[in-house]
Amino acid sequence: MQEQHELYENARKRTKQKKRLYLHFVIFVVGSLFLFVLDRVFAIGEDYLKDWFIWAILLWSFFWILHFINVFITKRFMGKDWERKQTEKLVAKQEKRIKKIKIKLEREAQHKAESQFYNEQEKKQSKPKQIITLIAAIANNNALGKDNDLIWHLPSDLKRFKNTTTGHHIIMGRNTYESIGKPLPNRTSVIITRNQEYKAEGCIVVNSLEEAIAVAKNDASPFIIGGAQIYEQAIELADKLDITEVHHSFDADVFFPEINIGKWKETRREKFSADEKNKYDYSFVTYEKK
Ligand SMILES: NC(=O)c1ccc[n+]([C@@H]2O[C@H](COP(=O)([O-])OP(=O)(O)OC[C@H]3O[C@@H](n4cnc5c(N)ncnc54)[C@H](OP(=O)(O)O)[C@@H]3O)[C@@H](O)[C@H]2O)c1
Repeated sequence: MQEQHELYENARKRTKQKKRLYLHFVIFVVGSLFLFVLDRVFAIGEDYLKDWFIWAILLWSFFWILHFINVFITKRFMGKDWERKQTEKLVAKQEKRIKKIKIKLEREAQHKAESQFYNEQEKKQSKPKQIITLIAAIANNNALGKDNDLIWHLPSDLKRFKNTTTGHHIIMGRNTYESIGKPLPNRTSVIITRNQEYKAEGCIVVNSLEEAIAVAKNDASPFIIGGAQIYEQAIELADKLDITEVHHSFDADVFFPEINIGKWKETRREKFSADEKNKYDYSFVTYEKK
C-alpha cells in the first residue's frame, strides 16, 4: 500500500512540474512578444542599448532551458529522498545482474572442468598408439641375404632380435618364413603370401601387408621382420626402424631399401667390436619417423 501511495505521489509531482514547465513556456512566449513590442513599437530603452529585447529573450531562454532540464532530465524537483531510492533500486538491479552473471560463469567453469575430466578419462582409457617397427640386420652395402638365407652369423644380433620381438607379432614374407623354416617360439608368426592355399602350422597366413597389420591390431608393438620385398612395402607405414648395422660388405641378392634421412631421425646408436663369437663389428641403431 505504501509503495502504491509513493508511486501515486511521485506521478502527481511529475505532472505538476510538467504543467508548470508548460505554463513557463507560455509566459516566456507572451513575455518575449511583449519585450519585442516595447523595443520596436514603443522604442523603450533604445537610448541605452540597441535591440536589447534580443538579449533579454536569450537570457530568459536560458532560464527556461534550466527549468526543462530540471523537469525532464535531472528531475531534481523530486527531492533527495526520491533520488536516494532510485539509486538504491538501480544498485539492487545491478547486484541482481552481477549475481546472475556469477552463477552463469560458475556453471560454465564447472562444465569446462567436467568435460576436461571426461576427456582425460577417455584418453587414459583409450589404447596407446600402435608402434610398427621394422627390424633388420643390414650390411654396409644394404645387403640382407643371399639364396634365401642370411649371409652372416652374429649371435648378438640374434639375441637382440629374440629379446625385442618376444611376446609380439612378427610379420614376414613367405620367403623369409621358408628361410627360417618354422614359427619362432613365444611370438605370433604372420606370413604374407599371394597364395590363397598356403598353409603353415602354428602361423597366421594372410594375403596382404594391410591384412597382416590388421591381424596384429591389438599388439601395441608388432614387428615386420623381412625380407626385402616386405621391407620395401612396409617402410612407408612403419613408425620405427631397429637396425643392426653389420660393418662389412657382402655379395647378396636381396637388399634393404635406402633409409631416407629426410624422413627418419636417428635416436640411438651403440657400436660393438667383433669378438670370438661375432665375426664383424656391428652397431645397434634406432630410427624414428620424423
Ligand atoms: N638381414 C635380415 O635382417 C633379413 C631379414 C629377413 C629376411 N632376410 C633375407 O631376405 C631374403 C628374403 O626376402 P625376399 O625379398 O626374397 O622375400 P620376402 O620379402 O621374405 O617374401 C616375399 C614373398 O612375400 C609375398 N608377398 C610380398 N609382397 C606381397 C603382397 N603385397 N601381398 C601378398 N604377398 C606378398 C610373396 O609370397 P608368394 O610368392 O608366396 O605370393 C613374395 O614372394 C632371404 O635371403 C632372407 O634370409 C634378411
